[in-house]
Amino acid sequence: MDLRGQKPISILARLYRLSLLALSAPIVLGEYFSADTGSEYGVGFGTKCALAGKMLLNNMRIPTGSSFVEHLIIATKILNVPKETEGSVVECGCYMGGSTANLSLVAGRCDRRLDVFDSFEGMPEPAEGDRSHVLIGSREVHTYDEGSWRGSLEAVRRNVAAFGDISACTFHEGYFEDTMEDFDEPVTLAFLDVGLRASAETCLEHLWPLLSREGYLFTHDVKHMEIASLFFDNEWWREHLDRDAPGVIGAGSGIGLHPKSNGFGSLLGYTVKEPRLHAFKEVAEEGAGTYRLRASTDD
Ligand SMILES: C[S@@+](CC[C@H](N)C(=O)[O-])C[C@H]1O[C@@H](n2cnc3c(N)ncnc32)[C@H](O)[C@@H]1O
Repeated sequence: MDLRGQKPISILARLYRLSLLALSAPIVLGEYFSADTGSEYGVGFGTKCALAGKMLLNNMRIPTGSSFVEHLIIATKILNVPKETEGSVVECGCYMGGSTANLSLVAGRCDRRLDVFDSFEGMPEPAEGDRSHVLIGSREVHTYDEGSWRGSLEAVRRNVAAFGDISACTFHEGYFEDTMEDFDEPVTLAFLDVGLRASAETCLEHLWPLLSREGYLFTHDVKHMEIASLFFDNEWWREHLDRDAPGVIGAGSGIGLHPKSNGFGSLLGYTVKEPRLHAFKEVAEEGAGTYRLRASTDD
């Protein structure tokens, strides 16, 4: 294989993707930059640009499993939580603190606490069925071992102190199974980036009842069939949370943020605890689509 011949092509492909990312920013980050977002917290266009710039830089400074664009999508929802809604932002799974630093900046700006849950020893031993996950959308199988994705509490604190807002953070050290039981505070938004289905189940079981009525719960594992399917598993939800499964936006492909060879995607998905259905537009399905390539559907 002639690598010298391939290099310019891969550089071009990278540049092309970067320019697509920049060109798509007004759409992907449209809600983030809208005047309403953050207005209750006095966060205007200039502050948002500065925040986005810091997040981009942090993504290069701290080893991270998620992207600053994904952090900005979460930031948008934090900035849109009504000021009078009580509760902290919760992050489950922080690795080296790259996502923590970025989320702490926005949580701090909104006078909210960021509660960070992690073992700080990496993954627990996965159960047999949880050791490997299928990502059909990326044609990948992801595998886990005990201790993988380890970031120590000292390293995370150092990174957040240097590049985020450490004053906004409370760290809960230990396996979720042990630390979440004692946590009983209102939550306005939760971000789960936990890899294992068993870990996601523990977080959901404890955090869902604490989440505010219209609160967002993000998962960074939405491409994993084993985790996306949890959000559609009525039996699990009825048994553990006494309600039907809420579903999840982005199952299998992630919300469309990053240009890939097979379209826009990401690892990020979300669900809303109690969406305000009465404010949604009603659309009668009558057989005629919104997209009409022909003038008439009769022929
Ligand atoms: C993929 S990493 C998080 C990446 C991070 N959010 C980022 O963007 O860089 C997954 C994290 O989940 C943590 N984790 C997974 N299962 C856990 C459990 N049951 N208890 C505590 N921590 C857990 C691991 O320690 C690891 O830090």
